[in-house]
Amino acid sequence: MKILVTGGTGYIGSHTVVELQHKGYEVVIVDNHSNSSAEIADKIADISGTKPTLEIFDLADQALTADFFKRNKDLKGIIHFAAYKAVGESVAEPLMYYRNNLVSLMNILEGMKENNIPNLVFSSSCTVYGQPDELPVSEKAPIKFAESPYGNTKQISEEIIRDTLHASELNAIALRYFNPIGAHDSSIIGELPLGIPNNLVPFITQTAIGLRESLSVFGDDYETPDGTAIRDYIHVVDLAKAHVVAVSRMIDSNMNQKFEIFNLGTGIGYSVLDVIKSFEKVSGLKLNYKIVDRREGDITKVWANPDFSNEVLGWKAERDLDNMVDTAWKWEQAYRGKTIASSH
Ligand code: UFG
Repeated sequence: MKILVTGGTGYIGSHTVVELQHKGYEVVIVDNHSNSSAEIADKIADISGTKPTLEIFDLADQALTADFFKRNKDLKGIIHFAAYKAVGESVAEPLMYYRNNLVSLMNILEGMKENNIPNLVFSSSCTVYGQPDELPVSEKAPIKFAESPYGNTKQISEEIIRDTLHASELNAIALRYFNPIGAHDSSIIGELPLGIPNNLVPFITQTAIGLRESLSVFGDDYETPDGTAIRDYIHVVDLAKAHVVAVSRMIDSNMNQKFEIFNLGTGIGYSVLDVIKSFEKVSGLKLNYKIVDRREGDITKVWANPDFSNEVLGWKAERDLDNMVDTAWKWEQAYRGKTIASSH
């Protein structure tokens, strides 16, 4: 059972490749390494014992993508992660985001159609809900006007998939992620942002390891119990497992409709200060942080209603916030080759 994982050397992709291999799938990765490197394939092999096949090219290149699919007609499914994902960068470089994220998706859908490869799992995001009117947010909540070109690429991608499915024999599952954090228990793979991290947990662990001076907490005047913004953090390994469940559901022809959409969250919201407290607890360290102004474009609070994915997809997030933060911290120390002793 051969599965293509685009972006398979990235953060969520690499964890998903490991889980697919655990379930006996053969994995081919296509990645252009715009935000990762080839050594991740070796790290995957260190964990699973099997090195995935790796092809390095850009899926936005139509000819190369068409050629890849011609050579891989035996694929049973595709999990498409490869995309740009930085909200701020997308505001500065919208065309780069639209071209990369949308053209690659269209090339993949064309390759699927041409070669009768029916099953696509697509990486979507809770960003499509904006600031929802009701919490927890279910899959039935309306799509809100996108806050960023990045968010818009996720909305448009879902529309492109829906229209293509309508006119073809293809099937798809879109998974709307809440906030993925954490790392593999082996500490061999984890989240490695290029340059200064945009996201909370990598910024926390890089501050604690000494790479950053201090964490800026963006706003403490939100309408939340402690004033800081609330998100639904989900362990990347739980998220990875959901992709395996989704692709198996398609291969086993268990779908209820051609296009299914599922939230991937725990259903629990934590504030920025909750995450900091969890970090201080699991690491035994005091984190250097300061409260600063709100970050433009941030919403106040969002967390998932995971009932539909729990019941219909048959998947449930299992790991708690402390485990997410603990694995992220262990990975940061392993990656930097440094152990920071607890101050307790
Ligand atoms: N935060 C800080 N300081 C930081 C970084 C983040 O206080 O240095 C806060 C943010 O203001 C927010 C929370 O921590 O309240 C989480 O921020 P992240 O940047 O980690 O995550 P976001 O919720 O902003 O973004 C994530 C994904 C996006 C996706 C979005 C959808 O990274 O890809 O969720 O809501 F679009």
